[in-house]
Amino acid sequence: MKKLLSIALLLIMTLSVAATISNAEEKGNAAEGKVQYDNICASCHGATGKGDGVASAALDPKPRDLSDAAYVSTLSNEHLYKVISEGGPAVGLSPMMAAWSGVLSEQQIWDVIAYIHKDICKCEYKGN
Ligand code: HEC
Repeated sequence: MKKLLSIALLLIMTLSVAATISNAEEKGNAAEGKVQYDNICASCHGATGKGDGVASAALDPKPRDLSDAAYVSTLSNEHLYKVISEGGPAVGLSPMMAAWSGVLSEQQIWDVIAYIHKDICKCEYKGN
């Protein structure tokens, strides 16, 4: 009985994660995202996202310019979630872009994505 219950729970969790990822709606809180961004991402991507953070000088390739609205608006929410959560190699980019899933919760990743859209690129996903 216990086993059945945990299988049911696992199924519900899997389904809700799938629903979250397929739902392209913005579900993050930009103000919360700014806190995480400033703590973690700004060191490489820069406080305003231009890719000019203190650690960027030593990096090759350089961190992407996240303030580039023309570029960032071509990246879907799923793509952003994947690269932030699993790191550059998950989307064919450099491992210098690390995986943050061990540091940030799912909600915190959505918060950071909301912040990037609202205040860094000031853009939304436009489709390719
Ligand atoms: C150690 C430096 C470093 C840190 C810290 C870092 N990044 Fe990156 N990031 C990079 C580099 C380098 C690239 C470019 C990789 C490439 O071009 O192959 C990149 C690329 C990206 C991209 C572009 C993906 C694409 O498809 O073009 C996004 C989005 C991104 N980072 C978001 C973040 C967020 C959000 C954080 C904080 C949670 C973060 N990064 C933290 C170095 C970093």
